[in-house]
Amino acid sequence: MARKMLIAGNWKMNGLLADGAALAKGVAEEVKKMGKPQCEFLVCPPFTLLTTIKKALRGSKVALGAQDCHIAEKGAHTGDISPVMLKDCGCQYVILGHSERRADHGESSELVNAKAQAAYGQGLKAIICVGETLAERDAGKALDVCTRQILDSVPESATWQNTVIAYEPVWAIGTGKVPTTKDVEEVHAAIRKTLAKKLGKGNANRMRILYGGSVKPNNAKELLGLEDVDGALIGGASLKVEDFINIAKNSGAC
Ligand code: 13P
Repeated sequence: MARKMLIAGNWKMNGLLADGAALAKGVAEEVKKMGKPQCEFLVCPPFTLLTTIKKALRGSKVALGAQDCHIAEKGAHTGDISPVMLKDCGCQYVILGHSERRADHGESSELVNAKAQAAYGQGLKAIICVGETLAERDAGKALDVCTRQILDSVPESATWQNTVIAYEPVWAIGTGKVPTTKDVEEVHAAIRKTLAKKLGKGNANRMRILYGGSVKPNNAKELLGLEDVDGALIGGASLKVEDFINIAKNSGAC
């Protein structure tokens, strides 16, 4: 069963009202020029821009996502945003368990699992992130770490429709370093095998596994052409219309 490639931009803590809207409009225009692209597009701006970007994307094929959510629907959780609120802003996706949240906010895989279930409760699709640190890779533990994170972070109720996995080696994020294609293939294959054990082969074969970490127009073809790579989660290069679109174009799958 063919999986539809997902080209997703994680804007992280970047963008103000004016430049965020311009970026989203630029992406929407370029996607429109592509006619009927074979891949899906998604942008995940910071919370403050969600409603503005929703308007900027009106009528376009580009989906909207957020970068985190709380497990509760509402209540006394100062500074947090619930999946109900994300739905209300027009989000279809939410990134969960990004390594920056795991590191900066001490998020555990168990919490990520609970957040994913809360997201499903509102009909949001979860993009669940996993990935090893450099020390873990150097110690030969990359596969073990990613497998463990998948087992603990992905809920039993995950399906290929409500979940996307993103493999993002921590040491490749924002560094310009990328793993070898052999290493990416090996981790993606291991993730799919683990998903099959946990969710059944039907789900595992159709669930998209994105690669993230220094994806640029010049390495998109090589990375996105790999067997088990079903798209990209793009940080820095998603902040420039041209780079983001050229990653999709160069992937050969859009
Ligand atoms: P960069 O593309 O900037 O390396 O970031 C990747 C990432 O963390 C996307 O979630």
